[in-house]
Amino acid sequence: MPGGQVIHMMKVVAIDGPVGVGKSTVAAQVAAELGFRHLDTGAMYRVVAWKLMQLPVEQQDNHNIMADLAYRLRISLGASGEVTVDGHDVTDAIRDEAVSRFVSRVADVRTVREALVAQQRRIGSERPAVLEGRDIGTVVFPDAACKIYLDASPEVRVERRVAQLRASGRNADRAEVRANLMERDARDRVRPWGALRVAEDATIVDSTCFDEARVVEIICALVRENPVFGLHGVAAP
Ligand code: DC
Repeated sequence: MPGGQVIHMMKVVAIDGPVGVGKSTVAAQVAAELGFRHLDTGAMYRVVAWKLMQLPVEQQDNHNIMADLAYRLRISLGASGEVTVDGHDVTDAIRDEAVSRFVSRVADVRTVREALVAQQRRIGSERPAVLEGRDIGTVVFPDAACKIYLDASPEVRVERRVAQLRASGRNADRAEVRANLMERDARDRVRPWGALRVAEDATIVDSTCFDEARVVEIICALVRENPVFGLHGVAAP
């Protein structure tokens, strides 16, 4: 190592990937299995979007209001994925297609990202954590000890998203889901800050041909064999 420099790595599992690839389910299961904290960073962007949508239309594109909401955001994420804001349970509301359509506009704003990234870093530094999003391994925790880029074909991602919506009792028109997914995907890849891209040192896991249980197994194995996490020799349950 040049000059004996010590690189400090964080006990963070960074899971990045495109829309509908199954990051949330996988991240929640990996966190549960390893006893780590789970942070769905997409939920944070969704909550800011949802809050903006409660405001009069003429205020919804105001970047100062957006950033202010992001800085003041006190989001609480439960162990089973429930999302609470100011005492309201918004778990279902933030997954609505209307929020999904609006949220890219919020995620494009640099000051919003700075506010949320600061919170993500604080939460992820407290104890070992699994963070999922688009820019975790590249921007939020470039020093994460384990970086995963989870991918799957667009067809498979559309089907997973449709199944997820239907399972939660929502109306899911396949053509609409596909159009929305493609549009958000494109925006995620080109945004000037925090764009979706593969970190140089990420392991790419393509889940097109296998299920979430297998992905969870692969990621947990990578974490267990990584000395930074100190889990070596701890038997898998
Ligand atoms: O993963 P998701 O669909 O719940 O994310 C919601 C939106 O937030 C999506 O448009 C991408 C954006 N996002 C982001 O820009 N950076 C993250 N770390 C997480 C999500």
